[in-house]
Amino acid sequence: MLHWTTKWGTYVWLQTLLAYALANCPSLAPSSLNFSVVYTMPFFQARSPIQNIVNNSLYQEVYVASQNVIEAVNRSLEKVWQLSTGPVGSPDCQICTLCDIDNDPNFLEDTNNQVLLLDTLFMYLYSCGSSQYGVCFFHQLNSNGEVPSLSKCLYGKESNSAAYCPDCVASPLGTKVTMVEEGQTVYFFVAASVNDSVTQRYGRKSISVRRPLATENGFYSDVRGLTVLPGLRRTYHIEYVYSFFTQEFVYFLSVQRESPDQDSSPFQTRLGRLPRNEWEMKRYREIILECRFEPKRRRRNVASEPYKDVVYNVVQAAHFGRAGRELAEELGAEEEDDILYGVFAVTNDNGVTEHDSALCAFPMDNVNKAISDGVDDCCESGPEQLSRGLCHFQPCESCPHESMENNATCRDYPTMVSKPYYRVDLFNRQMTNVLLTSLLVTTIENKTVAHIGTSTGRLLQLILTRSSSIIFANYSLVENQRVSSIAAVYSSEYLLFVVGDKMFQVPQRGPGCQHFLTCASCLTAPKFMGCGWCSGLCSWESECHSRWRNESCPPGISGFFPRTAPPDGQTELTVCGWEFQSPLRPAISSRTHHIRLGQNACTVLPGKSNNTHLVCKIRSGAIELSRPVNVTIEVHEGKVEGRYSIDGRAEIPGFTFVIPNITEIQPNYGPLVGAHLSPSQDLT
Ligand SMILES: *[C@@H]1O[C@H](CO)[C@@H](O)[C@H](O)[C@H]1NC(C)=O
Ligand SMILES: *[C@@H]1O[C@H](CO)[C@@H](O)[C@H](O)[C@H]1NC(C)=O
Ligand SMILES: *[C@@H]1O[C@H](CO)[C@@H](O)[C@H](O)[C@H]1NC(C)=O
Ligand SMILES: *[C@@H]1O[C@H](CO)[C@@H](O)[C@H](O)[C@H]1NC(C)=O
Ligand SMILES: *[C@@H]1O[C@H](CO)[C@@H](O)[C@H](O)[C@H]1NC(C)=O
Ligand SMILES: *[C@@H]1O[C@H](CO)[C@@H](O)[C@H](O)[C@H]1NC(C)=O
Ligand SMILES: *[C@@H]1O[C@H](CO)[C@@H](O)[C@H](O)[C@H]1NC(C)=O
Ligand SMILES: *[C@@H]1O[C@H](CO)[C@@H](O)[C@H](O)[C@H]1NC(C)=O
Ligand SMILES: *[C@@H]1O[C@H](CO)[C@@H](O)[C@H](O)[C@H]1NC(C)=O
Ligand SMILES: *[C@@H]1O[C@H](CO)[C@@H](O)[C@H](O)[C@H]1NC(C)=O
Ligand SMILES: *[C@@H]1O[C@H](CO)[C@@H](O)[C@H](O)[C@H]1NC(C)=O
Repeated sequence: MLHWTTKWGTYVWLQTLLAYALANCPSLAPSSLNFSVVYTMPFFQARSPIQNIVNNSLYQEVYVASQNVIEAVNRSLEKVWQLSTGPVGSPDCQICTLCDIDNDPNFLEDTNNQVLLLDTLFMYLYSCGSSQYGVCFFHQLNSNGEVPSLSKCLYGKESNSAAYCPDCVASPLGTKVTMVEEGQTVYFFVAASVNDSVTQRYGRKSISVRRPLATENGFYSDVRGLTVLPGLRRTYHIEYVYSFFTQEFVYFLSVQRESPDQDSSPFQTRLGRLPRNEWEMKRYREIILECRFEPKRRRRNVASEPYKDVVYNVVQAAHFGRAGRELAEELGAEEEDDILYGVFAVTNDNGVTEHDSALCAFPMDNVNKAISDGVDDCCESGPEQLSRGLCHFQPCESCPHESMENNATCRDYPTMVSKPYYRVDLFNRQMTNVLLTSLLVTTIENKTVAHIGTSTGRLLQLILTRSSSIIFANYSLVENQRVSSIAAVYSSEYLLFVVGDKMFQVPQRGPGCQHFLTCASCLTAPKFMGCGWCSGLCSWESECHSRWRNESCPPGISGFFPRTAPPDGQTELTVCGWEFQSPLRPAISSRTHHIRLGQNACTVLPGKSNNTHLVCKIRSGAIELSRPVNVTIEVHEGKVEGRYSIDGRAEIPGFTFVIPNITEIQPNYGPLVGAHLSPSQDLT
């Protein structure tokens, strides 16, 4: 047992200890998020990596294409039928012999289903594979979950040859097709990656528009298109990443090198555009899209961090959609405006993608304006000598720069806009250790919700805003496997994401609530996530078997000091914890906050109390001397402004009333107000 005055050294030590105990409440406020919480999402497993998915909301089916097969999946993610699309030459293939194309009997050619499209007017599912020169088929769908009643090959033997093949559409190197209906006519806007062999025999084009014949056995033979020039096909690769259409145009998003004749020029992202009611190429336009990070102006002065823009040059995945009201306002757009969202990454000098990502939103009205300005720059008189660009599709040519009134034909040539169009990263460079690979953006009420897949099999859910995009969920679909850029909106509630051979159905409102560890994080999650607090856990209302609350949080105690005090009406007690006061900080008063020590009241001192500390003055008259009692706090804020109020009770054992037994106090030292210490009890 230590005595108060025994030794100088002991005294100093005691002082230090006491000062520590006084200044530091145990800061045990729990961490608020745990992204390691496991959520299991329902999935459909194909036989091999999934190559395409298409939803048919009318028949409530999803068509899943993988090598040599198309499978139809119903709402319970169970297979209802399948159609074998390969290998060519195998008796298993149900459609391969429909085309009158000779095949090598000694070689089985696998069909990678490059293109899958749904024509909801006729309920035709179109598929175009890598085999049989990239020809397309259509399959007449049935509403009752039965196998398509009819498939036809869109290939006419008479109109095609190795030298000229209007029915050869898809390239084994990658193809994106957008189908547009204009009146009774369907147009296929095709973008295909090509090389020498793909363009030469039964040649396919880089960009083309195809119109299926009414006779349903092929396409119109007059095909216009653009194709990488012969001298560049070996080295200049264009990867088509995404394609979409608006009221007026069809767009292709691609990744390619800046200069076709320089093997080491940097990669960039380009957006190609065709008018959707034309099948010629003369109004083809292309523009470079950039997603940038621009450090704030003030940081330029920081010597250690020199001013440097980062250009995220390579798009990884994109989604064409809308913005919710709040983001639209921030972007200076309208809710009904078309917006192209993209996740981008940085590639190094060797073209290797780095784990450094960004997200940008491109309002299409602005992009179109930039395109028409760019064409004006080329066709109107100006000081700069510009090139028409697209030197991989057509011979290099300078812009004529003549006045528009006299020469309208200037606009009738495929033209590349000379200036890149850029937007800034909505993540403000926060995604420096991750490669984002997949993206869907939807709106819920006024919010813009992004679901973003990563190269490590995770899905991030967040609300997009210009200032700070906060991640609300981050869960694993498949450990360490890339989430595919193929994804689709399934319904107003569910989204479809693909990882390898699995197609996951994920709820738009979020995977669940268990990863929110505190009531505050639980209730400040977006309302549509439907999270509430249930006996110390965050959960959906349907998962809770006791009181579920989404408008108030209970207080929590982590500790208190002093541990002992005399019942003398002088001593102040400090209770530490969390959720003593709601975020907009309504007044703390003796009406809203009650503290008891056993049966004894302790009056809250509002001026010294806040969200994490409640200070109260112990009232005199304790009866429970020398045995531990509980410290109990009870908070009822009532109706408050803001998302939630504090309401509830918390208690912690371990407080003891003692009669002071202090023999001496050294006046020069000590913050010991009210002599409330009993070292003989505390330090044994
Ligand atoms: C998502 O959660 C995982 C696991 O906690 C973490 O490693 C990763 O950094 C998180 N990703 C982001 C973008 O926050
Ligand atoms: C987070 O969740 C994982 C998985 O449920 C669990 O193992 C881990 O202990 C949790 N971590 C915390 C800090 O709660
Ligand atoms: C989906 O198909 C399976 C197997 O045919 C069937 O058992 C299930 O009821 C179907 N689900 C729906 C929602 O139709
Ligand atoms: C072109 O691509 C095809 C398909 O991948 C490949 O088989 C062929 O060898 C390539 N041709 C050339 C000349 O690189
Ligand atoms: C209009 O421009 C085209 C090419 O840009 C050129 O070939 C043609 O001669 C021009 N016509 C006139 C009348 O200047
Ligand atoms: C959406 O925004 C409008 C206008 O700002 C507002 O009146 C409406 O209440 C908001 N809706 C929701 C669900 O927040
Ligand atoms: C899937 O169906 C929903 C309606 O249920 C529709 O809004 C969505 O655009 C469809 N997605 C695709 C990729 O067709
Ligand atoms: C709380 O939950 C109820 C019932 O689900 C819901 O009607 C209410 O809007 C929710 N309130 C908030 C603030 O989320
Ligand atoms: C709350 O009050 C304590 C002392 O009573 C103080 O140490 C702490 O910094 C305050 N916290 C906040 C967030 O003001
Ligand atoms: C004191 O608090 C604990 C919980 O911390 C509780 O289990 C116990 O019943 C309480 N004791 C009294 C006497 O209220
Ligand atoms: C006070 O301290 C003295 C000696 O330091 C001890 O004998 C006595 O029992 C103590 N009294 C109480 C009430 O603890």
